[in-house]
Amino acid sequence: MIREKNGALGALNTFGIAATAREIWTCTTIDDIREAATAATDRHFVLGGGSNVLFLSDFDGVVILPRVLGIEVVRESATEASVKVGAGVIWDDFVAWSVARGRQGAENLSGIPGHVGASPVQNIGAYGAEVAQVVENVEYYEVTTGAKREMSAAECNFGYRDSIFKNELRNRAIVSAVTFRLRKGCTDFQLDYGPVREAVEQLGGASVENIRQAVMQIRDSKLPDPKVLGNAGSFFKNPEVEPEVVNQLLRDFPTMPNFKLINGLYKVPAGWLIEQCGWKGRTVGRVGVHDRQALVLVNHGETTGKEVAQLAATICSDVQQKFGIAISPEVNFV
Ligand code: EPU
Repeated sequence: MIREKNGALGALNTFGIAATAREIWTCTTIDDIREAATAATDRHFVLGGGSNVLFLSDFDGVVILPRVLGIEVVRESATEASVKVGAGVIWDDFVAWSVARGRQGAENLSGIPGHVGASPVQNIGAYGAEVAQVVENVEYYEVTTGAKREMSAAECNFGYRDSIFKNELRNRAIVSAVTFRLRKGCTDFQLDYGPVREAVEQLGGASVENIRQAVMQIRDSKLPDPKVLGNAGSFFKNPEVEPEVVNQLLRDFPTMPNFKLINGLYKVPAGWLIEQCGWKGRTVGRVGVHDRQALVLVNHGETTGKEVAQLAATICSDVQQKFGIAISPEVNFV
């Protein structure tokens, strides 16, 4: 395990926030992960691709980087393949690997930044799919005992951008690998989200390759590339609202988009609420709201975590005031 004192975090978070950690431990092998899990009794934070964090200040603790690589088919039948992927593999490299082999299940999640190890923690989702649908199990090491554990998808308590790793197992697990169950030769694709079907048809019809290409095109058209403009994707979660509240609001705001959920609540796009408050494309100091997707906050150059958090708080309070709806960050504050 590589241990670095006073490590720089600026290049390790896609917001590009300059902060330091008391120590950074880089784990490139399973033994490193076990060692880190055993030693991480102190304040620590497991950092994947850094695409969903906001460092509010320097971190007075240990930042652990799981960088175990490898993609291995562990079981295969005529219709399915189970693929074990190291936590440090870049998520989209795994999607590209699956699509190149015609394996189905991850294609709608093309282009999401971050590492495989973080995908079940956050239950990443986009374009009508969530990683929960393809996770078979998650392998992790328990902090303090260093014991290896395996958790089935059912035990992960997946929810909207949520899992057991953000709750009961918060700071208690270091994910080392995720096994995904992908389908083979199946034609049952998820095309129902927004512009996906139309974009896929323009490319010649439904296939894993065309879905990947369509999703990449849609993402490129509205989401900023963190290499060009620092950001952490959606900064806020879409709120779930009671039907009575939606009906009441529709009287004043008849164009308000809303989507009925299976739990009887309605999802209202936070991006729309923020845009209606006049925030889309606005900048305050060195931080701003993206001009093509109001859910994304962007770093216009050397902003600080506190500055971003301040803008986020102002936006939440404006949305609360105008609509009476509480929105909350999806990004993890550290
Ligand atoms: N909208 C606006 N203005 C905006 C943004 C959105 O009016 O500035 C409205 C539009 O009505 C649009 C609707 O919101 O039709 C939905 O927008 P979009 O399809 O862009 O999705 P989203 O709800 O804003 C969610 C995820 C994204 C994911 C997309 C596509 C969350 C918090 N965000 O955004 O995830 O890519 O759906 O599936 O659930 C991420 O988590 O980092 C992320 C980018």
